Amino acid sequence: MSRLVVVSNRVAIPGEDRAGGLAVALQAALSERGGVWFGWSGKSVRGRSGELHEQRDGDIRYVTVDLDRADLDAYYNGFSNRTLWPLLHFRLDLVDYDRATREGYRRVNALFADSLAPLLREDDTVWVHDYHLIPLAAMLRERGIGCRIGFFLHVPVPSADLLMAMPDHQLLMSTLYAYDLLGFQTRRDCDRFQSYVRLYGGGRIVGTDVLEAPGGRRFRTGAFPISIDTAHIARQAAAAVNKPAVRALRTSLSGRMMAIGVDRLDYSKGLPERFHGFERYLQRHPGQKGSLTYLQIAPVSRGDVGEYQLLRNQLEQIAGHINGAHAAPDWTPLRYVNRNFPHPTLTGFYRGARVGLVTPLRDGMNLVAKEYVAAQDPQDPGVLVLSLLAGAALEMKEALQVNPHDLDGVADAIATAATMPLAQRRERWQAMYEYLRLHDIHAWRRDYLQALESA
Ligand code: G6P
Repeated sequence: MSRLVVVSNRVAIPGEDRAGGLAVALQAALSERGGVWFGWSGKSVRGRSGELHEQRDGDIRYVTVDLDRADLDAYYNGFSNRTLWPLLHFRLDLVDYDRATREGYRRVNALFADSLAPLLREDDTVWVHDYHLIPLAAMLRERGIGCRIGFFLHVPVPSADLLMAMPDHQLLMSTLYAYDLLGFQTRRDCDRFQSYVRLYGGGRIVGTDVLEAPGGRRFRTGAFPISIDTAHIARQAAAAVNKPAVRALRTSLSGRMMAIGVDRLDYSKGLPERFHGFERYLQRHPGQKGSLTYLQIAPVSRGDVGEYQLLRNQLEQIAGHINGAHAAPDWTPLRYVNRNFPHPTLTGFYRGARVGLVTPLRDGMNLVAKEYVAAQDPQDPGVLVLSLLAGAALEMKEALQVNPHDLDGVADAIATAATMPLAQRRERWQAMYEYLRLHDIHAWRRDYLQALESA
């Protein structure tokens, strides 16, 4: 087996408390075969980008690079999160295109390539993650790297006509043709990418998931829906019921049911719509008023980007309005919390919630939806209310699926979930849990790497 080299903007350095399911799966793959995880150090420095840091853990080397404040601002806050993120989430209205940030993005990708190239061996397998690093393979190839390089896009692919609205779209998109395998979350994303290549990208489809770039280079595409560490989360959630934070939450509900949402504070998550949907539930189902408390956990994300600041203000206003209009002296309908919690605690919260609210306007996959299911008590499972615009909707078919723009529909789904009989809750949950048991994060990375290595 060849050595594995993972490249992503964020690196889950051991000992730092941010390791989610993806980090655990990649670490498992890296320690099986030995390898390197390369990416940004998470630090912005004054002066010059490029200082490298290295840490070892068994057979895994973690190599990270510092970025200077101006580079980080152009690459991360700018082109990645003010241009690509909204574009890929179908939000052309929020796209801010600027040649200067595009240059910063190119510069940081070139710095990644310069720092990574000397670490690579002929027979390595390189796996690059997400929209921050689209041009990386092309830049590594320019530096003489011939080994297998795959890419996985964690976010959606919008339709071809949205992609082609970005200035100089071909300049960026055609760099994807330097990979050997392009992985997407769903078949739909993969199909939309192929239609872009055909219509505006200058390439051809030459076989099932085999594409040809203008110069004749061939590469593959495929759908690899990302997942969670199902068995681990189930165990973790069962154990978490005794954690002080989980007990305190349960006690505070005084016997009422809970609905829970956990999302980064991001406009793709549909939080204003979800808050309004919850208010609509209180209005349309007055008989249920007071029986269900909604807890929304929304840690602040990308706080240096203007759209995210606006969203935060907007949510504070809506939450205040809902509680002002509907609270009782002994009941607050909506609890809105901006801080983050350790992952095991969150799984305990999920297990205590009769309703899981996952209603993004667009989402590549959404792992909260899958984790909510895995965390449930098999004897008394809760009900997942899931946006049909999340990638997870294609797999979590037994969820109550809603269109997040249809507030009445969201309201009624909350009411249905809150009153669903146990037998029906169990039946739906079992089907989804069984699916997640078979299609977990370890199966995902095995499938992807197998496809890359036979590409
Ligand atoms: C999404 C992206 C990831 C990103 C994460 C957190 O899931 O697909 O690449 O790491 O959001 O965002 P942040 O900007 O904090 O890394």
